[in-house]
Amino acid sequence: MSSPSTRTAPALDLHGRTALVTGAAGGIGRACTLRLAAAGARVRAVDRDATGLAELVDCAGRALGTAGGGAVEPYVLDLTDLDAAERAAAGTDVLVNNAGLQLVRPIEEFPPAVFHTVLTVMLEAPFRLIRGALPHMYAQGWGRIVNVSSVHGLRASAYKSAYVAAKHGLEGLSKTAALEGAPHGVTSNCVNPGYVRTPLVEKQLADQARAHGIPEERVLSEVLLTDSAVKRLVEPEEVAEAVAYLCAPQASFVTGTSLVLDGGWTAH
Ligand SMILES: NC(=O)c1ccc[n+]([C@@H]2O[C@H](COP(=O)([O-])OP(=O)(O)OC[C@H]3O[C@@H](n4cnc5c(N)ncnc54)[C@H](O)[C@@H]3O)[C@@H](O)[C@H]2O)c1
Repeated sequence: MSSPSTRTAPALDLHGRTALVTGAAGGIGRACTLRLAAAGARVRAVDRDATGLAELVDCAGRALGTAGGGAVEPYVLDLTDLDAAERAAAGTDVLVNNAGLQLVRPIEEFPPAVFHTVLTVMLEAPFRLIRGALPHMYAQGWGRIVNVSSVHGLRASAYKSAYVAAKHGLEGLSKTAALEGAPHGVTSNCVNPGYVRTPLVEKQLADQARAHGIPEERVLSEVLLTDSAVKRLVEPEEVAEAVAYLCAPQASFVTGTSLVLDGGWTAH
């Protein structure tokens, strides 16, 4: 037996595997797509943003080069088309439910139509994608479902009713899929970041700085990161690494849980 100092974990190898990532044109989805493709997967990159997907494919071409293995295939789809979403997931070995949207508004002013859309994209579509992916995963006795949740899957914040409701629902869906999938070699987990450095959050920094009349550096520590013990944003690549870990052989016993990357936010 090798000593602990010489033992190394096997690297993530997804050659021959198909992955599907939703919201692939966005900050976190893009990082997840590139990470899984770098591990050798053929990644179905789903988003409604055709331009963003085209840029991602370009970037993947440069990043992956001719090293062999992984590939990124754009798949333009609006996830509110739930039947199409379920069809898109057929035949995938790894499913990353990541697409999301946010509206910050008090409940009494929150438009019901937006609440409905948020729940459709962030909870009902993941259910339909899982439903579409499971027959193939069960047939081969292996599958990985990773749901990109949030600290807001575990904690609420005022004015984010739809987002918090959808993420709490996603946590429940993920645990149920874990229980049903275990006898078939399928794991299901959530990844729960705090604030991630994405264009969306960068824009929020500028807006909040203007609104509070303080420099952007102070917005981070005094507004967004008040509850975070580590006073920085988490990078999309760090989230993608957590997703990759959950797909690796050494995580086969990890299921029905939530991997929190929140700089200590929920330790309070
Ligand atoms: N950015 C953060 O700080 C943060 C923190 C915790 C969790 N998250 C979660 O991470 C996930 C990704 O967020 P992000 O920050 O990368 O956001 P983003 O806005 O950069 O990306 C979201 C992507 O989802 C796509 N999308 C939205 N609605 C869609 C629909 N109807 N059909 C198809 N695609 C659709 C968008 O086009 C976009 O490309 C979300 O679920 C979000 O809730 C983000």
